[in-house]
Amino acid sequence: MKVLVTGGLGYIGSHTVLELLRHQMDVVIVDNLYNSQIETLTKLESLTGKIIPFHSIDVKNPLLMEPLFQDSQFDGVIHFAGYKAVGESVSQPLEYYENNLMTTIVLAKLCVKYNVKRFVFSSSATVYGDNPSPLTETMTLKQTSNPYGETKAMNERILVDVANANPDLRVVLLRYFNPIGAHPSGLIGEVPNGVPNNLLPYVTQVAKGLREKLLVFGNDYPTHDGTGVRDYIHVMDLAEGHVLALEQAKPGVSIYNLGTGKGTSVLEIIRLFEKVNGIKIPYEIVNRRPGDLAEAYADPSKAFHELGWKTKRTLDDMVRDAWNFEKNNTQ
Ligand code: WQD
Repeated sequence: MKVLVTGGLGYIGSHTVLELLRHQMDVVIVDNLYNSQIETLTKLESLTGKIIPFHSIDVKNPLLMEPLFQDSQFDGVIHFAGYKAVGESVSQPLEYYENNLMTTIVLAKLCVKYNVKRFVFSSSATVYGDNPSPLTETMTLKQTSNPYGETKAMNERILVDVANANPDLRVVLLRYFNPIGAHPSGLIGEVPNGVPNNLLPYVTQVAKGLREKLLVFGNDYPTHDGTGVRDYIHVMDLAEGHVLALEQAKPGVSIYNLGTGKGTSVLEIIRLFEKVNGIKIPYEIVNRRPGDLAEAYADPSKAFHELGWKTKRTLDDMVRDAWNFEKNNTQ
């Protein structure tokens, strides 16, 4: 299968490219390096022993994107490219709507024009809004708390309408929970721009001495220990889910949660990280972060029953691999 991966040098994209190549697929990467590093391409090639065609292109630019489709008949695309910082989306909504929607529209138009039959989209559990966990794909979606989340929900709706108008196009919407960890080689992983928004990269930077302490955003939530509960999933498990979704895409639109089905609190993550890696993580309880939910975790049974997918890696694996990458990361 020949697959175009947008955002293929990013955190989840790069791990998925590894998995696609391991499954003997032909991969072409498009990435404008807005939130990724060119060094990741070299690492992917050294890990796989393969030369990977790469184009540093903004997916929003149809003049630069169309020649790729003229040169290759892609069997499928996996669309990761997009801005993803929740806080930034609140302060820069127009940039988020323009980038995250136009990338999808340009890509979908080219897929229709060049008869690409499979479109896997990087969605997010954030589209569930404040629905109660465990979250299931049949739930009515609710308003999310930020423009980033809204772009994910809007992209889902765009792709549903495109699939309805083009019966040959098989669309899969993958709703990620909280991806963490890294490839066990320690060569690729999450490299946040500036101060990490997400929990694990902040914890690993504290462990490395780059940050003084972790600020825990609230311990007055209605959860077992008062801190936020999330469904953390190893990025390698997430990558494996993309390969199965691409291979088994059915006619029409399929929607799957990619999560473990287990909720873990912030304090539990801190204690686990300290135990597994033998490093103390100083922290301070501060006020809640606006827009945060008390808890969000998946019902992952649909992906298991329809794709035969479930997570294999443990939370110990996740915090160990996350630290292993941080230790080795010089970027
Ligand atoms: C996890 C928990 C925080 C940082 C977001 C997006 C989602 C997805 C992942 C985009 C929460 C707490 C965090 C910190 C803390 N995609 N926390 N101190 O908010 O669940 O999901 O990122 O990347 O679409 O919505 O992930 O890692 O930011 O927070 O206490 O310094 O850790 O309150 O309970 P979140 P997160």
